[in-house]
Amino acid sequence: MITQKHPSLKPYNTFHIDCRCKKLLIVEDESDFEELFSKRVFCQPFLIIGEGSNMLFTKDFEGTVIKLATKGMEIINEDDDCVYIRVAGGENWSDFVRFTIENKFYGAENLIGIPGLVGSCPVQNIGAYGSEVKDIIYQVEGFYLPDGEPFVFYNEECEFAYRDSIFKKELKDRCLITEVVFKLSKEEHYNLIYKQLKETIEQTGNTVTLELVAKTVQKIRNSKLPDITKVGCAGSFFKNPVVSEAKFAELSAKFDNLVHYPAPGGVKLAAGQLIENCGWKEIRKGDVSVYPTQALVIVNWGNAKGKEVVDYYQQIIKSIQEKYGITIEPEVRIVS
Ligand code: EPU
Repeated sequence: MITQKHPSLKPYNTFHIDCRCKKLLIVEDESDFEELFSKRVFCQPFLIIGEGSNMLFTKDFEGTVIKLATKGMEIINEDDDCVYIRVAGGENWSDFVRFTIENKFYGAENLIGIPGLVGSCPVQNIGAYGSEVKDIIYQVEGFYLPDGEPFVFYNEECEFAYRDSIFKKELKDRCLITEVVFKLSKEEHYNLIYKQLKETIEQTGNTVTLELVAKTVQKIRNSKLPDITKVGCAGSFFKNPVVSEAKFAELSAKFDNLVHYPAPGGVKLAAGQLIENCGWKEIRKGDVSVYPTQALVIVNWGNAKGKEVVDYYQQIIKSIQEKYGITIEPEVRIVS
């Protein structure tokens, strides 16, 4: 286990916020888990991070940050139709997706390019281009905190919902996810429910393959989303809001062309559109603005402080409340 005292967390969060923590522990080997528990690391203030791609630090973190860096992918079972792959929490998400594509396993390809680690993917049930990771997760393994009792949650026990799971609710800060087992199909099939993905693939005139789907997803991502190696951000900053049918009827009588989708409990609106309609694509404050091609993403163009991003996002929430009477919520974890 690598230990650093009082390091800058700038290289460990994709928002590139320059703040510090008391101690950083980088867990590279499974045997390190035992040490974490014997040293009672989780009995003091702590924060577990993956690639720090879905969090906003608002100030120095007065505790220990634990970064997962364990590696390993293993096919643990298979039959004629399916394969079960156990993947270490510290594996890069897109490396895993590429592994599935190379081996002709179907189901993860639409999710290529999402920043983050495998261990983080169940927490907010990552999703893009018509797929969600819940559709391919078989089980999630790890330890309860602070004592280190092992757990296994089967898919249906994870309470997956849109950008949500048990790991964000009852088990928030009460578990360490160490491995995820995925169940992927060996049978050729594709999810082309996302219109732009289907149309872009059709325009190529080529036969659909896993490689073509992944390449097209990357192309669409690159056209809308910033390259996190160059620009500080944490992907979509807000969740898309779900409103009641009655509220939607009220809004659509007042505003034309509101993007909307059916959703459990009502109608889902596109927060990016609402933010754009409130004029935020024109507003930059210091090094903080929304991304020009996707207003749902807030970016740090250089040396923004966490507090400046907080002020900016709170003003966005306020303007959406004033114009539409809807309260949008951050998708990103705000570490305060
Ligand atoms: N839109 C605008 N203006 C904008 C942004 C979007 O009008 O500035 C409109 C688009 O034209 C489109 C609609 O809003 O009609 C939806 O946009 P898009 O398809 O780009 O998706 P999204 O709802 O904004 C979600 C995910 C993304 C994921 C995309 C694609 C959430 C919070 N975000 O964004 O996930 O890549 O769908 O499936 O659900 C992430 O979670 O970090 C993330 C990037």
